[in-house]
Amino acid sequence: MEPLREGETVVLRRRGGRSLLVELRRGPQAIDGQGVLDLSAQVGAAPGATVSWAGAEYVLLRPSLSDLLGLLRRRAQIVTPKDAMYLLYLAGVGPGSRVAESGAGSGALTTVLAYAVGPGGRVFSYDRRSDFLEVARRNVARCGLSDRVEFRERDVAAAGLDESDLDALILDLPEPWEVVPRAVGAIRPGGAIAAYVPTYNQLERTVSAFRSARLEEIRSVELIERALHVGEGGTRPEFEMLGHTGFLMAGRRVAGPW
Ligand SMILES: C[S@@+](CC[C@H](N)C(=O)[O-])C[C@H]1O[C@@H](n2cnc3c(N)ncnc32)[C@H](O)[C@@H]1O
Repeated sequence: MEPLREGETVVLRRRGGRSLLVELRRGPQAIDGQGVLDLSAQVGAAPGATVSWAGAEYVLLRPSLSDLLGLLRRRAQIVTPKDAMYLLYLAGVGPGSRVAESGAGSGALTTVLAYAVGPGGRVFSYDRRSDFLEVARRNVARCGLSDRVEFRERDVAAAGLDESDLDALILDLPEPWEVVPRAVGAIRPGGAIAAYVPTYNQLERTVSAFRSARLEEIRSVELIERALHVGEGGTRPEFEMLGHTGFLMAGRRVAGPW
């Protein structure tokens, strides 16, 4: 098992309590008004090492994507994990991909994209609001993924994207149809544009923009997630569920020029 390296992000798991994301480094560090923590002794330890701090025992682990999203600080409405994962599939994002997204919002989708593209990939994250960009930037930094993400302050409907030959573009903003005409030329042949919107009206207008931009293989889906309560002899769906989050749609650029 690879030891925990100085500088990497680790999750401090506390049984029955709130977990924390922290940078593993030597010397005292202030933890969000909760006191000062010193992880010098844990640098080079194996995942599963423990630390006693502020009257509790914590286990140090490498964070999973679920840890990262669960500990994200939210400002704008974020993409839920079920939708974020399927957006990766629809947009064809994987290790090494170069992908743009807008808006950055709280950085939840940015985090998923940065995780998915890996150290060899690149994420270009646009938002027209500097305050949201700051929240997203801080969240991505807390996850230890800043080295793969470039943030840009821009209204993408008005000014488009800087990049070309992108593998994918993902739009999580209210008016994707205003972005598609300018942005389609930034996608390489074979790449995709995906969008995430909460209403049928937005879905229709977005798919119509995909068609006008001559995207192909257009797909639109809604995912319903139902958690299960598991108890021996009493396994059943949970009584409460998330009724609606958003609609997902994607199309592929197959031919040009535009
Ligand atoms: C719902 S939030 C995005 C949430 C984000 N995907 C997440 O998972 O945390 C929508 C964001 O789009 C941004 N936005 C809206 N229209 C935009 C535009 N034309 N250009 C750039 N950003 C835009 C807003 O400022 C807002 O931060």
